[in-house]
Amino acid sequence: MTTTFLRSARRFAFAFLAPLVLAMPVAAKPVSNGLARTPPMGWSSWNNFGDSIDEKLIVETIDAMVANGMRDAGYQYVNLDDGWQRYKGKRRDRPLEVDPVRFPRGIKYLADYAHSKGLKFGIYSGPGQTTCAGYTGSEGHEAQDAALFASWGVDHLKYDSCCSHKDAPVPVLKTIFGTMSTALMAQRRGIVLHACHCGWGQPWEWAADMGINHWRIGQDISDDFDYPGNREKYYFDVLDTLDRGVGLEKHAGPGHWNDYDMLIVGLNGRSKELVGAGASNVEYRTHFSLWAMVNSPLLAGADLRSLDVETLATFTNKEIIALNQDPLGKPAEKVRDDGVLQIYAKELADGSYAVALLNRGSATADMTLSLRRDLALTWKKYRVRDLWRHQDVGTYDIPFTTEVISHEARVLRLTPVAD
Ligand code: GLA
Repeated sequence: MTTTFLRSARRFAFAFLAPLVLAMPVAAKPVSNGLARTPPMGWSSWNNFGDSIDEKLIVETIDAMVANGMRDAGYQYVNLDDGWQRYKGKRRDRPLEVDPVRFPRGIKYLADYAHSKGLKFGIYSGPGQTTCAGYTGSEGHEAQDAALFASWGVDHLKYDSCCSHKDAPVPVLKTIFGTMSTALMAQRRGIVLHACHCGWGQPWEWAADMGINHWRIGQDISDDFDYPGNREKYYFDVLDTLDRGVGLEKHAGPGHWNDYDMLIVGLNGRSKELVGAGASNVEYRTHFSLWAMVNSPLLAGADLRSLDVETLATFTNKEIIALNQDPLGKPAEKVRDDGVLQIYAKELADGSYAVALLNRGSATADMTLSLRRDLALTWKKYRVRDLWRHQDVGTYDIPFTTEVISHEARVLRLTPVAD
């Protein structure tokens, strides 16, 4: 991945691109495509498979999502990430083509197949001459590619500039992503747009107003919960990514979301692409809970054809998913920070609250939630439900104290109770 990344950084030829795009007009009026009112949920091929993808894998993944209950739990998108394209290297004015060997029946066949199973289909490209893994990109052919994706029946586009050109001025970024956004909105089908730029240029401040539905807030995730030294090596583990999002909650809401990157749940250190040694089931549950709490898109990255029972139970915890898909669309904020013990909380559409008691430390700890202190709530009595144990824990009129094991997030739903 590191070599891929360095190669792509060179290929993007950003110094050449910047003066050209600066001269182009930028849409001033806020625009919205009306899509992704709740964070997109689905699967993406990258985290487990990298560019080792083909038609058989995608068909089998679609079948698995139906058979294992993930579709019915809310997962909709089946997204091809980088590596579906026929050519590596510069565009050279060729049309974008799918690799005919690995995808003999083409993309439309797969999109139709996904639709026939009640799912949606996503694809990947980028604004450079080449994508991050060196495949042909969309630069200079945005309208042509948007029309092609629409003709194939695509419902989601991950548009990836790679994380290399971090100092690009915001007007340049707005033009790069705005050009594709405009091209997609000119199509007859709604296509969700993901702007993948690793958080450089603070996309949370401008992307929502230009038809972009989610934007990555940080660099690529690694298959680790908390791995010191990762960051210096480009990768963000779960806790790095969580910390990156603190303060960004206010920028997200229905139609526009902070993207904490695709899920590592179930990779178990066996990814063909990502670095990392894997995490425990508790840590994967915590990761899933936190991504749900902060309203990140929930895009599974594991091989869905061979999930073990615990991993599938994590992916299909409907009470946790409901926090992510809640119609109020309010991401959780960090309301308490006692070092390794932290509390995340958010309000839900029905007036209840979701709370995650997170123990980042290495020892079990008692954690106490005070409604008044931590949530500024004046409820006299409240009911507590544990969303991993699927149990009502009790009714309380005093602060709630519970044991939280190392790297666990106890996720609770609190509802007021009349006297
Ligand atoms: C970048 C992105 C990844 C993935 C790869 C594909 O690294 O951040 O999520 O899409 O490109 O090459």
